[in-house]
Amino acid sequence: MNQKKFYNNEANLFAIHKEKYGIVDTIGIKFIDSIMWELKNKIILDYWCGNGKNTIRLAEKWAEFVLGTDISNILLKEALHNIWDYENISFLHIDPKNQLFHKILQHNVFDYILSYYVLCTIKDKDLLNNIGKSIFSSLKPDGSFITLLPNRDNFNGKTCFWFSYIEKLNMKEWDEVITYLRTSDFPLPNIDNDDKNHLKIIDYYWPQETYINILKDIWFKQVEIIELFAEEKSYNWIIDEVNFSPIYVIQAVK
Ligand SMILES: C[S@@+](CC[C@H](N)C(=O)[O-])C[C@H]1O[C@@H](n2cnc3c(N)ncnc32)[C@H](O)[C@@H]1O
Repeated sequence: MNQKKFYNNEANLFAIHKEKYGIVDTIGIKFIDSIMWELKNKIILDYWCGNGKNTIRLAEKWAEFVLGTDISNILLKEALHNIWDYENISFLHIDPKNQLFHKILQHNVFDYILSYYVLCTIKDKDLLNNIGKSIFSSLKPDGSFITLLPNRDNFNGKTCFWFSYIEKLNMKEWDEVITYLRTSDFPLPNIDNDDKNHLKIIDYYWPQETYINILKDIWFKQVEIIELFAEEKSYNWIIDEVNFSPIYVIQAVK
């Protein structure tokens, strides 16, 4: 199956579960909201934006302009459907066979590049490197790359209110990691991993250190990791995410 077909299939799977899959990543969103002031009047790329929900959030707040890119025409169709209200947002369909977009995106265009849960889907280290390089070249000098990622290193086998990992010991680079995205059936019981009501996705394990080394090798400076936790009792259905960090942010400056 080619890449585009694969992501469109995934997009369809999400669409089928949409009614039930209503849980959002409140911890990640809270982090982005906490730095929204930095994003004011900035030109931003939402790198592999999916259905554009985060792209729209950035445009709604204070960004001067936000561009969302993705390979899935099904997700982009959904994204486009939601933006008729905004003048500071646009979407670009990326077809890996057509390399022209590299030219459009190259060279010091963006103040910020954000990517949500993208690098964890990459299977191959060369691709990870190339993505890092293309992000570096698209950023303006002193521009920032901010990426949110699931914290396999310190959340292995734990359960969060919106996802759950099957524990895997001695993980190595490139290992498949099975994750179940929860549906919005509250209150949440302890997840049964065969429960068909939860959406099963497969990501790939890259240790925090691997991402850091790749970014440093590309000459990003000030590469730092911020582990995010849920605030105690912020919701009564919080599970392990007060004591263990379910997601982390990498911030890297060009
Ligand atoms: C896990 S989803 C994250 C989507 C979005 N950032 C979010 O938080 O909802 C990964 C996204 O990467 C997109 N994608 C995968 N490979 C791609 C490629 N080569 N070029 C552009 N987009 C790609 C998929 O279509 C999918 O929307």
